[in-house]
Amino acid sequence: MARTNASSRSEVFEMLKEDHKRAKKSFRDFSKLEQEGDEQACQQLAVQTCKELQLHMRLEEEVFYPAARSGLEEEDLIEEAEVEHGSAKTLIEQLQTLSPDDPKFAATFTVLGEYIKHHVKEEEGEMFEQLGRSKIDWDGVLEEMLARRMELESELGLASEEADEQAAQAVPPEARGAAAPAQAKPAR
Ligand SMILES: [Fe+2]
Ligand SMILES: [Fe+2]
Repeated sequence: MARTNASSRSEVFEMLKEDHKRAKKSFRDFSKLEQEGDEQACQQLAVQTCKELQLHMRLEEEVFYPAARSGLEEEDLIEEAEVEHGSAKTLIEQLQTLSPDDPKFAATFTVLGEYIKHHVKEEEGEMFEQLGRSKIDWDGVLEEMLARRMELESELGLASEEADEQAAQAVPPEARGAAAPAQAKPAR
């Protein structure tokens, strides 16, 4: 299907909403793991979630927010969003200094989840809402976001699911599970 400016806009929103959904699920999963007392799983999930949030926030700050600004009726939504990102980043930095058996670890992660929930509500409810009526070159924004996302994924050590799938498909079936699988070629 040919890409139109409206379909690109939907794709941009979908990409960000997918991240939001994933983050919210991670915070719910964390609270379950915490109740079960699975400290190691809690830590792994927290580390992964923080990386994903860092990617998401940088993608928004570097590409999405600057593009969105001109399309908003209330431009200060961007300032508010950036302040909220600042608070989230501070909590992530604090988490990185805490040991997972410190009671503050789970508490800090839980508070981060509350912040993110509030922030996502404003983005989806107000920002995306206003941008739906704006005239922005969404094709250009989408291209830039896809490209930047790939760079950030490799910088933060977050391989995309798509890349994982492609890598799995690149291995011939007879080589899968073999004692000495061929080394994957490095991405160029
Ligand atoms: Fe977001
Ligand atoms: Fe955000």
